[in-house]
Amino acid sequence: MAEPERGRVQFVQYADVLGGIPGRKGGGEGEGEELFRKANEVIQKLSPAPDFLIFNGDHVAGYCSIAELKEQWSYFLQKEAIDPPFPVYHLPGNHDTVSFTENLPNPYGRAFPNSEAEDLFRAAFPDLPDNGPPGQRGLSWYAAGSDYVLIALHPIFSGRSSTGFDDLDWLREVLEQFSDKPVKLVASHFPLFPVNGYARHSPYPHASWIIDPQQTERILDLLVSCKVSAYLCAHVCAFDFQIHRNIPQICSAGGGHPVLYPPYAEYHHVARISIDGKHVTAEAIGLDGKVLEACEWPVGGLQVVPASLNDPGKAAEIGKLWQRAKALRFRFTGSISSASSESGNGDREFLCGWDNEIGPPLLWIGIPAGSARLILKAVLFPSPEQEAEGEQANQRVTNRSSGISQGSGISQGSGINQGSGINQGKRNAIAYPVTFTGPNLPPVFIIDIIIDKTMGPGGVLVSVRESEEAEQEWNSMASCSPFGFESWPWPPSWAAADEGA
Ligand SMILES: [Fe+2]
Repeated sequence: MAEPERGRVQFVQYADVLGGIPGRKGGGEGEGEELFRKANEVIQKLSPAPDFLIFNGDHVAGYCSIAELKEQWSYFLQKEAIDPPFPVYHLPGNHDTVSFTENLPNPYGRAFPNSEAEDLFRAAFPDLPDNGPPGQRGLSWYAAGSDYVLIALHPIFSGRSSTGFDDLDWLREVLEQFSDKPVKLVASHFPLFPVNGYARHSPYPHASWIIDPQQTERILDLLVSCKVSAYLCAHVCAFDFQIHRNIPQICSAGGGHPVLYPPYAEYHHVARISIDGKHVTAEAIGLDGKVLEACEWPVGGLQVVPASLNDPGKAAEIGKLWQRAKALRFRFTGSISSASSESGNGDREFLCGWDNEIGPPLLWIGIPAGSARLILKAVLFPSPEQEAEGEQANQRVTNRSSGISQGSGISQGSGINQGSGINQGKRNAIAYPVTFTGPNLPPVFIIDIIIDKTMGPGGVLVSVRESEEAEQEWNSMASCSPFGFESWPWPPSWAAADEGA
């Protein structure tokens, strides 16, 4: 098999299949087993073929007896798994290693991670490298190609009491051993940073959406100091791309799990990721083979807001730029005391863009009263395609909960799509007020904010420095939104305390 060109690696990532159950169905048409079959077809038709595939956990449904889990693995391996002509790396997810175990002490309820289930994972993939931390053979491991090292971690190892990494010394040693590899990838089933607002961390090691938040900074410090190219995760059935201290976290899940998180915004896909030196691109390929989203880091096609938005003519010009641009950069320099407080409630405001026909500002950047924390508020609009998918998801949820097929296409009481109902006429009917949270600001600062239309909710990026000489470190601002600025309308009215290049 040909090795990738030096410094360039292209691979495919998918996860969260929950397979192993013949003819399994989900909440709608053509789901379950059929979705995974289509995802595998997409991967096998990719041209050029990827250098490798990483299957990022949740191969089988699990949460059953060991005997049933054994049957699920047998069906998965014989009937569902593919054997493509490139390496496939597997790492375990919660559904793979959580089962009902009657004979062991169980502080977490009936289902929890256990060594019998872990042994079944090992038996399913006996060729996985045996080079992990003690006791984690075939669960945590590393593999190296000519240009990359891929390190897999298993945060819910049965020998651990919380969803996290106790193996940072091992991780550091491996990263240092392969420091000459141009592409360094760290992967686990669980996100380090919440995806689409799925942020709950639980003391039960199998019931968390994210890695233990008490470990986040320590892990990120290590990824930064060892120049990791990207952190790969799954578990939240979504496609998501966000940046933390200049490192992308790429989440791809939903290769077959019928439920998406949330169902009104996400879709089934496989992710194709290319890393060329420091340039990372991630594409979500739908199950019909079409590229549905494409993100890149560093941000491409960046335009700088060139002049004051207080001038209505200039603001309209920049609005035209926004239509054409992929990403726009705003800059605010000064001090907390120099921000205006025109909003009348003590909030310090850097920038406000609004439409008189819509109540809340379409964009507001500032510091809430009594705080030093940078906040960006926006009213976001899903695209017509996302809204149509939301209607269908509502219908599926409604039908599931009522047991009645209504067929009217009307969303009824599903508890989702509860936006503010602002009618934009041409765009769509639903608007979502969203808050993006940034860092605490130093007394004097240079703030750069990039809004990248192609990066979804991760595409609101901030860098805060105290001087021009300081290195720029970019972070996605945190939100609970599954949408970004992809369909956001440029406001006709603006007020700016201080902005421009
Ligand atoms: Fe999972």
